[in-house]
Amino acid sequence: MINLNDVTKLIEFRRTVKPIDAAGQPNYSDKPVSRATIEQLLNNANWAPTHGLTEPWRFTIYQGSALQDLASYLREAYTTHTSEEQFKEAKRDKMASYAENTQVAIVLGMERHAGKIPAEEEVMAVACAVQNLHLSAAAEGLGGFWSTAPVYDIPEVRSFFGFAGEEDRCLGIFYIGYPKNEWPERKKITPQSVLDKITWR
Ligand SMILES: Cc1cc2nc3c(=O)[nH]c(=O)nc-3n(C[C@H](O)[C@H](O)[C@H](O)COP(=O)(O)O)c2cc1C
Repeated sequence: MINLNDVTKLIEFRRTVKPIDAAGQPNYSDKPVSRATIEQLLNNANWAPTHGLTEPWRFTIYQGSALQDLASYLREAYTTHTSEEQFKEAKRDKMASYAENTQVAIVLGMERHAGKIPAEEEVMAVACAVQNLHLSAAAEGLGGFWSTAPVYDIPEVRSFFGFAGEEDRCLGIFYIGYPKNEWPERKKITPQSVLDKITWR
């Protein structure tokens, strides 16, 4: 059996570590993430709960020189699909910079299985898979960051990533890399007490 205290430790240990810090400096080291490790993390993601066993999660991986292609594509996609009023140069540069400063980018897709299972339940299943992925990354000492932005889920953009079905979704990009600096010990702001979020009946 698995020990609850060990699981609790892993859950509390998991942290968001972005490819760059607030000053734009790299947060990940140059240490590569092996293909075997990526496959192990995604195999754990693949064990997520899934209503109707539709297993809707899909992953498109960028690494090595492909990351520069991803950065260029994100830059272009954000520019093309953002209105003049909404457009922020800093946002465009940050989006590209995540791709330029990561070891691996995992684009997160939801492949829709139209039928009995509502679409939102398939989205929820993908989120469960991402949590498996993030916890597994933490256990390997890998920093992980789930990046979301409306542009990722525009039909043309999600098709580019390989999620081309009419009701498919692109739910973000998950970045991983071995941290350059100390592992963030605890959140500065720890979660508010769960006791305030429970109603006992
Ligand atoms: C669905 C989802 C989307 C997220 N998208 C972003 C994002 O686009 N940008 C960002 O800075 N953080 C994003 N985050 C990460 C949160 O900022 C992070 O989880 C939060 O700060 C708590 O930190 P922790 O993960 O270390 O506990 C996202 C988290 C989730 C679950």
